Amino acid sequence: MATVESDWTLGVDAERPTLARVYDYLLGGTHNFGVDRDLAHGLLKVEPQARSVAAANRAFLRRAIRRLSAQGIRQFLDLGSGIPTQGNVHQIAREADEDARVVYVDIDPVAVAHSRAILGDDPNAIVIQADMRRPGEILADPAVRKTLDLSEPVGVLLLAVLHAIPEDDDPYGLVHGLRDAVAPGSAVVVSHLTNEDPYGTFEAFEQLSARSTTAAVARSRTEISRFFEGCDLSEPGVVFIHEWHPDPQDDPVDQHSTLILCGVAFKP
Ligand SMILES: C[S@@+](CC[C@H](N)C(=O)[O-])C[C@H]1O[C@@H](n2cnc3c(N)ncnc32)[C@H](O)[C@@H]1O
Repeated sequence: MATVESDWTLGVDAERPTLARVYDYLLGGTHNFGVDRDLAHGLLKVEPQARSVAAANRAFLRRAIRRLSAQGIRQFLDLGSGIPTQGNVHQIAREADEDARVVYVDIDPVAVAHSRAILGDDPNAIVIQADMRRPGEILADPAVRKTLDLSEPVGVLLLAVLHAIPEDDDPYGLVHGLRDAVAPGSAVVVSHLTNEDPYGTFEAFEQLSARSTTAAVARSRTEISRFFEGCDLSEPGVVFIHEWHPDPQDDPVDQHSTLILCGVAFKP
């Protein structure tokens, strides 16, 4: 990944941590402020493996994209895409097809600015700043319509983001609406903080995240499974991220990746 430095700090609120920047710091990125690093160190105090949990989530993303590509999916809608890091969706998808198309969506201005700098004038990959709680606006966006052909299957990616959507914002209606809007053969990919973590560290994640612009809410396996309603959940179902088609080439992850459950389902 080329290093892109620009005026990414201009106009950005550096007083309140954001999930995008905390996650960036855990992944070894440099697009974060002192407040983000303080929160990340709070997480690392209760969960010394927080960095490898973040890395394991990225490894799941990589494996999932490769699986979708193998199923013939050539376009992706990445909601809550985050600050670009190693192995972004367009780079992985283009291992299978150099013309793969990607729309990145994030609410965080730093994530969007840095994505824009990375993508440049790529004709097949764009980023938009939007709130995924308003999916209708995203799908109606002319730039999105130009990049994605909604009559063809789309990989809808919701990684480590639905826990930022509280019940009041109807996360299930949001995901089911997206499912209804995409063509048969499309996929829904989810990874999500879970309260089934046997070590109980999810509570500290919830509490610390409340200091950021988006509080995280951990959910149970049953609740996370609801996101896949109306789709065919592929094997091995809703499992911890290190259990989903592990790849021997990935860094070994320890039991602490039990903080995140994931799954992949296809729209019939
Ligand atoms: C923990 S990061 C995950 C990044 C990436 N999906 C991954 O798994 O590597 C969560 C991202 O979701 C974004 N996000 C949170 N709430 C959002 C919303 N309502 N609309 C769009 N993006 C949102 C945050 O800004 C952040 O970049």
